[in-house]
Amino acid sequence: MPTAALLGFAEFGMTMTARARTDPQWMRAMKARGVPADAHRAKLRAALKDWAGPSWFAVVGLVFSIAQVRNWRQRHARFKVTYADDVMIEAPIGMSVLEVSRMARRAHMSVCGGRARCTTCRVQIAGTAGELPEPGELEAAALRRICAPNDVRLACQLRPKVDVTVQPLLHPSLVTATHHAVGQEFGEEQEVTILFVDIRGSTSLAETRLPYDVVFLLNSLFAALAEAVEKSGGYYSNFTGDGLMALFGLDRERAEGARAALRCALTMFETLDSLNDRLVGELETPFAIGVGIHTGEAIVGRMGPPKTPILSAIGDSVNTTARLESTTKELGVPLVVSVETLHAAGIRTSMPLEEVSLRGRAGTMAVAALDKASLRRILI
Ligand code: FES
Repeated sequence: MPTAALLGFAEFGMTMTARARTDPQWMRAMKARGVPADAHRAKLRAALKDWAGPSWFAVVGLVFSIAQVRNWRQRHARFKVTYADDVMIEAPIGMSVLEVSRMARRAHMSVCGGRARCTTCRVQIAGTAGELPEPGELEAAALRRICAPNDVRLACQLRPKVDVTVQPLLHPSLVTATHHAVGQEFGEEQEVTILFVDIRGSTSLAETRLPYDVVFLLNSLFAALAEAVEKSGGYYSNFTGDGLMALFGLDRERAEGARAALRCALTMFETLDSLNDRLVGELETPFAIGVGIHTGEAIVGRMGPPKTPILSAIGDSVNTTARLESTTKELGVPLVVSVETLHAAGIRTSMPLEEVSLRGRAGTMAVAALDKASLRRILI
C-alpha cells in the first residue's frame, strides 16, 4: 500500500480519536448511528464484531502457513538418478543430470561445459517414474544435429522432476578423475587468442640448399620463434613444417592473452632481425615471416598420439587465424590482426582498418594490417 495512503489513514485515526475525547456528545451520536434499532440485529452485529478480528487473523495465518508449507516442499522435493552401474543419487529438483553426476563426483563428459553445444554429455534414458520435461530449443537443436533417437537427452539440459535411470553414452572409462584433466584431455571450449606464423620462402630454401643446411637453418628459426612464444607466456601448439601455431590466454584474462600475442609477434620480428644478421653470410635472402592473430572461441585440449599429445585448438577461430595469416601476402604486410584481438587487448587505434573477405566466412572482416613499427606503436 502506498505510504501516502497509510499516512492518510493514520492522520484520520488521530483526528477521530482526538474528537472522541473532546466531544462526548458527538461520540454518543456516532455510536448510536452504528447500532441497529432492532435488538436481535444489534446482538448479531455485536457478535460479528467479536469474531471479525480473530477470524481475519486466522485467515491470514492460514494463507501464510500454506505458502510456507508449499515453499518448504518445493525446496525439499527430490528426485533420484540411477546410473547403469546401479548407483543411485538423490538430488533436489531443479538440478540437471550433469550437475547430479558432478555432485556425486562421477566422471561425466561435458566438453562445452554444459552449454548444449558438444552433446558429449548425452545419456540414454533407460526408465523414468513419470514424464520428463520436453527438450528446450537449444537441446532439441543439438540432438537433431547428431540425429539422436528419442530416448537420448543431454544431461546438461535435462532437469527431471521424477526419478530417472540414465546411461551416459560416451564411455566413462575414457574420462580421467579431475575436471581439469577432463578439459585438457577431451577439449574445452574457451576464448583464446591464436597466432599463426608462416615462414616465407621455405620451399625455395629446400630447393637451393643441402638438406642438412635446411634442417639447421629452419631449426634455428623455429628455436627463435618458439622462444618468443615462451617469453610472451604463450603455448607453442602445432608445428606445420613451415609454420607454427601458438595459443595465448589459456590461463589468464582475455585482455592479457590478446596483448601477450601481440607482444609475441613483436618479439618474433625483432628476433628474426637478429637471426638474419647472424646468418647474413648463409642466406641468399633473409628469413621473413607472415603472422595472423585472432581472438575467439575454440576447442582447446590435448590432441595427437597418446604418448606425445600436444595442447592444441580447433574450431572456426583457428581457421580464421590461418586465413588472416594468408592475407598478409595480399596486403603486403608481415602481420594481420583481427579487430576482435585489438578490442580484446583494449587497443583503440586511430589507424584505418582493412575490410577483408576470408574463404569460408560470410561477409567481410575488419583487420589491422601492421608492420613492426606500427605494431610497436600500438603496443606502447
Ligand atoms: S556438456 Fe556439452 S552439450 Fe552438454
